[in-house]
Amino acid sequence: MLLGTQRINELGHLEIGGCDTVELAERFGTPLYVMDEEEIRSKCRAFVQSFSSRYPKVQICYAGKAFITTAMCKIVEQEGLGLDVASGGELYTALKANFPTERIVFHGNYKSNEELRMALHHNVGLIVVDSFWELECLGALVRETGKEARILIRCTPGIDPHTHKRIKTGQEDSKFGLGVKNGQALEAVKIALGTPGIVFKGIHCHIGSQLLHLHSYQEAVKVMVDFMARIREETGANVEILNIGGGLGIRYLPEHKPPSIEEMAEHIVETLLHRLNKHRLDFPTLGLEPGRSIIGEAGTTLYRVGPVKDVYIKKAPGRRTYVAIDGGMSDNPRPQLYDARYTCMLANRVNGTEPQIVTIAGKHCETDILIPDTEILRPVPGDLLAVLSTGAYNHSMASNYNRLPRPAVVLVRNGQAELIVERETYEDLVRQDRIPERLANGGNE
Ligand code: LLP
Repeated sequence: MLLGTQRINELGHLEIGGCDTVELAERFGTPLYVMDEEEIRSKCRAFVQSFSSRYPKVQICYAGKAFITTAMCKIVEQEGLGLDVASGGELYTALKANFPTERIVFHGNYKSNEELRMALHHNVGLIVVDSFWELECLGALVRETGKEARILIRCTPGIDPHTHKRIKTGQEDSKFGLGVKNGQALEAVKIALGTPGIVFKGIHCHIGSQLLHLHSYQEAVKVMVDFMARIREETGANVEILNIGGGLGIRYLPEHKPPSIEEMAEHIVETLLHRLNKHRLDFPTLGLEPGRSIIGEAGTTLYRVGPVKDVYIKKAPGRRTYVAIDGGMSDNPRPQLYDARYTCMLANRVNGTEPQIVTIAGKHCETDILIPDTEILRPVPGDLLAVLSTGAYNHSMASNYNRLPRPAVVLVRNGQAELIVERETYEDLVRQDRIPERLANGGNE
């Protein structure tokens, strides 16, 4: 499986964005996140084109939680997309990159007063309100600051999107949003309409992530358009924006066949138009927030192979080969959290005969298996391992467990490689540590 601009070059090395990964590893060290700029841009364009060619008013916002750095914000801005941020930190990153604030959508089930204040101060485009409490806080803040808050109400449409239980969000029993079916979302719309300084712009839902079927989106669109009709009936208000979140799945394994962006647009727009006509509703702006499907396949992580250990076991298969790499759950916690599976290859000798089943293990003081039982050439210490589709929720969820410095991120395009996040140093790891004087002096008073 090769993704984006990946190819095998004359030396038998994996190449991404015209850059030889063996050279990248030598130049920037490992572990290394390599991001394929062409692939990121082509996914951004595919979203914009597929949806705008079918529907008159579309607002595509990249979901920064999947991967956000200042350089990424620049790419997103240049491609004309908006940006979904989910915390003060993500918002700060966007501000640092001078991202146009009117194109920012601010999310979160618990936005603190400081975060809301920050969003208002910078006039972010939309705040997606997740609870009654947030409506109250926002009401007080707009009174205090004289600013205006343009909002969407986050709804739970009560749909099961058939994905891993930890990344489902649209079902009734969820910490996110307010229920459409139990009447809470409508109640929130009424409160918003009655609060001076709060401008009700529309409704939002996000049903889940890594979705491999489109029918859940269609279900969600139906529930949400019916809800638009209900809002008009009960309050007379017009829903200007209908945002149905992100969630499109990507290819982690060769056998994964996620729907294309084009197919997603086709299904969603068809259902939307049909339902809007049924209720004779004005066309709202259709909002989308893809994260993983824009950045996921654009990312590859390069690791240096260390010890390769054959372990003889009584049970089948009788022997397991553990291949240790110089990263693990600190740079990719997804196998531990969601049983996520990945595809890998030896980047310094992609082609070869006699592959073997091996298990890729991290270097943490845990059983952090990155990829169990995968078929590749038998690695030897010093080989370079490439793990594919690591662009989404890897760098953004990385930690310093066992005090491993977080890897660098390099952006590749047309044979050029540029650092967009520097590798952390040991000094970075202790930068925030403080020794209280009483400990420094040897006492414990
Ligand atoms: N919009 C909202 C409101 C969201 O909560 C999310 C993801 C997205 C958009 C983007 O969804 P995407 O297109 O990336 O599926 N850490 C997990 C995924 C958590 C997703 C959280 N929300 C993972 O590694 O699979």
